[in-house]
Amino acid sequence: MDKNLLKSKIEYINEILDKNLPTSDESYGKICEAMRYSVLNGGKRLRAIMLLEAFRMFSGSKETEEKLVYPFVTAIECIHGYSLVHDDLPAMDNDVLRRGKPTTHVAYGHAMGVLAGDALLNYAFEKNSSIAVGLSDPKDALKVLKALNTVSVKAGYSGMIGGQVLDTTEKYNDNVKTPGFTEIDALSFDKKDIDKLKYILRIYELKTSCLFEAALLSGAILGGASEDDLKLIETAGYALGIAFQIEDDILDVTSDASTLGKSVNVDEKNDKDTVVRLYGMDKAKALVDLYTEKAVECLKKTGKDTGFLCELFESLVYRRL
Ligand code: IPE
Ligand code: IPE
Ligand code: MG
Ligand code: MG
Ligand code: MG
Repeated sequence: MDKNLLKSKIEYINEILDKNLPTSDESYGKICEAMRYSVLNGGKRLRAIMLLEAFRMFSGSKETEEKLVYPFVTAIECIHGYSLVHDDLPAMDNDVLRRGKPTTHVAYGHAMGVLAGDALLNYAFEKNSSIAVGLSDPKDALKVLKALNTVSVKAGYSGMIGGQVLDTTEKYNDNVKTPGFTEIDALSFDKKDIDKLKYILRIYELKTSCLFEAALLSGAILGGASEDDLKLIETAGYALGIAFQIEDDILDVTSDASTLGKSVNVDEKNDKDTVVRLYGMDKAKALVDLYTEKAVECLKKTGKDTGFLCELFESLVYRRL
């Protein structure tokens, strides 16, 4: 992975975010300041880059990129940022450190942690929907609506929020399972473990993959991708999200707070059922490899220029950046 290229892409995204987030306005108290604090505080910008690159896989139009894609880039990072602000609240993971700084509720108080998250979610949809209003070409308006609908579903009760619900409130639910990939069988899990594994992977799919899918799909929709390509892109996001979340759980036990910018050993503290805690490091790593391979394979099947995204997938999952 060319680190300078990635750095320039992150800077490019940060400029879009800086310009598009509301500037501090004291007439609403500190809400704008807390929104900016929650989003403009570092972060790998993975979802924003995925959105932009997915668009560029299917369209080379710079004009469309500025007009249609920038608001979506802002929105996806606002939604991701809000999910982290709420994830860190005392009622959820109760974390005090995020991206190397005090979490939003620590810096601004609990009420503002809730409200800044709410405001970021609303702002995401304010941004996305505002584009459609000024469009003269109905085809563009339709693309924007379809992308908007996709983001709404993937971020909602049957997507990211649903995953956070299962993650925080349920130990096991027999009705919830991911089909997974058949290759899981070759990793020789005990039969009795497979159901629980598929339950945990379903939570990962919802809480983490869904926003990856939202990013990749909305970029590809705005770029004019075909239905077949959208299916491949969605599966790539699904597989990448699972690999990424398992690696996140691995890092929670192997890394340190100054490298990650967030507290470690949180999963043990909160008694979370993670793949690594339940099945051990070797199985967790084998699953990261399997799901990353699948993600890259799906991207390549589109036949488009996916070189940068494939490298990004591998580097990000293994955090070689
Ligand atoms: C953190 O996501 C939440 C998970 C899904 C594990 P990131 O690791 O992408 O967080 P930032 O945006 O880089 O801080
Ligand atoms: C969070 O998963 C996923 C979200 C949807 C926010 P984690 O709880 O493992 O994320 P971190 O470790 O706090 O970043
Ligand atoms: Mg959590
Ligand atoms: Mg957390
Ligand atoms: Mg974690």
